[in-house]
Amino acid sequence: QISEAEVVMFSAPSYACQRRTSLNNHNTVLTEALSLLADNAELSGDEGRGVAFRRAAAVLKALPKPVTDMTQLRGLPCLGEHSLRVIKDILEDGASSEVESTKRSERYKALKVLTGIFGVGVKTADRWFREGIRDLQQLQDSGQTLNQAQQAGLEHYDDLNQPVTRAEADAVGEIVEKAVVSVLPGAQMTLIGGFRRGKLTGHDVDFLITHPEEGREEGLVPKVVSRLESEGFLLYQKTTRNSYLESQDGPARPSSNMDRFERCFSIFKLSEEEKRGLKQTGNGVSRIHSHRVPGPEAGHKPWRAVRVDLVVCPISQFAFALLGWTGSKLFERELRRWAGHEKAMSLSSHALYDTKQRRYLRATSEEEIFAHLGLEFIPPSERNT
Ligand code: GTP
Ligand code: MN
Ligand code: MN
Repeated sequence: QISEAEVVMFSAPSYACQRRTSLNNHNTVLTEALSLLADNAELSGDEGRGVAFRRAAAVLKALPKPVTDMTQLRGLPCLGEHSLRVIKDILEDGASSEVESTKRSERYKALKVLTGIFGVGVKTADRWFREGIRDLQQLQDSGQTLNQAQQAGLEHYDDLNQPVTRAEADAVGEIVEKAVVSVLPGAQMTLIGGFRRGKLTGHDVDFLITHPEEGREEGLVPKVVSRLESEGFLLYQKTTRNSYLESQDGPARPSSNMDRFERCFSIFKLSEEEKRGLKQTGNGVSRIHSHRVPGPEAGHKPWRAVRVDLVVCPISQFAFALLGWTGSKLFERELRRWAGHEKAMSLSSHALYDTKQRRYLRATSEEEIFAHLGLEFIPPSERNT
């Protein structure tokens, strides 16, 4: 038995964007439990409760050591009554009955499977659940009308639910970069999202593309997409054009994280050869025979589907787009909340607006944006909230 005097008391600032959160989480059992309850709240349409659980989990992720005793948590922000009860149950009994019963519940299991289909959100999954659909087989048998994204999502379900490795991300990066540079010489591509934060795997691969000369990047996505399509790399793609200039509600719309960059949500066809880095040359494939090249044996398809997001921004907005698309999602949400509530500013992936000065604050680096916001700079690897 440890006496209270020997227990380390934890402390943390209340916004996640004021804290450093590396991938080294000392409290995974607790944070996974709280994340599951956050998922469940979101699947029930209760976004507020979802965010509350995510903020609680984020505080625990930032602690330097495992929590062993409830008294250590006294000085911590964001831990509401409900989260504290869950933590207490786990510390005392090794499990939380609420978490365990949620995990086993019909609704939670079904909605997890159904929202695991690319293109299926909570509303659609919930409607299907109410119509009695519980799994993929039942969905297929039901004859529900699926849009193109959902059809592709269902077809590639297993691949898309298998984590993407860093090596796969790099292989996709090479392919995309070649296509980008060939349609727009001088264009620059940056790996963003979870991989920029140092994650070893992801649910997709995210890239931000720009060009040093403002305006040259316009209309790039359709050109890159047709090139990738003609090379047989795309199983699915949906391109959205830039709608920033024609939008009516100003560049930094505080209440939403939806931006208006030209972008493409796609599903890539990544072959074993590309994964191993066999180079495609102008006159065919030059094979480096360090490994046996697997033939199309029965039961083994020589490629896998990978979700890829491409975002294009003008160079003048690059720092904001980079910050906005590096994540994590909660870190981004907290940055915007900090900007609005503490600084009377409005932050988006396009710009930062100072309400009191009534002007936009320029920035050419993430560091400058943190400085404008009066925050200590947090590098990408420590934004894993
Ligand atoms: P994994 O892909 O699961 O490894 O994590 P991730 O952090 O890369 O998540 P994701 O690819 O979903 O998103 C990457 C970042 O882009 C996150 O910070 C999101 O907030 C941001 N993001 C995703 N979709 C949008 C969008 O439509 N608009 C804006 N502005 N940001 C987005
Ligand atoms: Mn991602
Ligand atoms: Mn993404």
